[in-house]
Amino acid sequence: MKIFIDTANLEMIKEINSWGILDGVTTNPSLIAKEGTDVATRVKEIASIVDGPISAEAMSTDWEGMVKEGRELAKIHKNINVKLPMCVESLKATKVLSSEGIDVNMTLIFSPHQALLAAKAGAKYVSPFIGRLDDIGSYGTDLLGQICGIFENYGFDTEVIAASIRSPVHVLDAALAGCDIATIPYNILSMMVSHPKTDEGIAKFVADFEKSKKK
Ligand code: E4P
Repeated sequence: MKIFIDTANLEMIKEINSWGILDGVTTNPSLIAKEGTDVATRVKEIASIVDGPISAEAMSTDWEGMVKEGRELAKIHKNINVKLPMCVESLKATKVLSSEGIDVNMTLIFSPHQALLAAKAGAKYVSPFIGRLDDIGSYGTDLLGQICGIFENYGFDTEVIAASIRSPVHVLDAALAGCDIATIPYNILSMMVSHPKTDEGIAKFVADFEKSKKK
């Protein structure tokens, strides 16, 4: 499973990239706004750090506007893909952009039906938001399994990005469901590294090593 980081913060991206495990980055308008910058500037900066797909969201509401914006975003760097929110206009825009070789990440996916339509329109990625489903009392993880199963049944090339991840358990769910990618916030990536038994084991090895040196 590929690992993307879900942030627009350059320091976090640099840190996780230095771990040697980072395959790509997703941003969204809320994440960009938090950084006090604009999408074009920030994705260009991210592309200079990470060699992998980077999602940049188009904000137009009609398909012609989305296509125009998508073409501009794609010109920034070869690794940029255009994030579009699931709706009819986005499906129309996806058809055009994908026919031009511009990758689309269909975001705000909350049902398998939406994912199926996005794949049919030619989206390179679909992003089911599992945390937000959990928030309203649904099982976000179930959605991942349904989408992966449908794509497998019909041989769609569209990749599934598990998004809106709120815990390491969500990452595990994504991997077990067979998702191609999980886009993970910095704090969850940090949690994934640690285990109390690892810390305990390292402390014991260090202590025993120090003791053996004294003999
Ligand atoms: C994915 O591409 C989105 O940016 C993100 O995962 C949304 O997560 P949230 O529900 O925590 O805002």
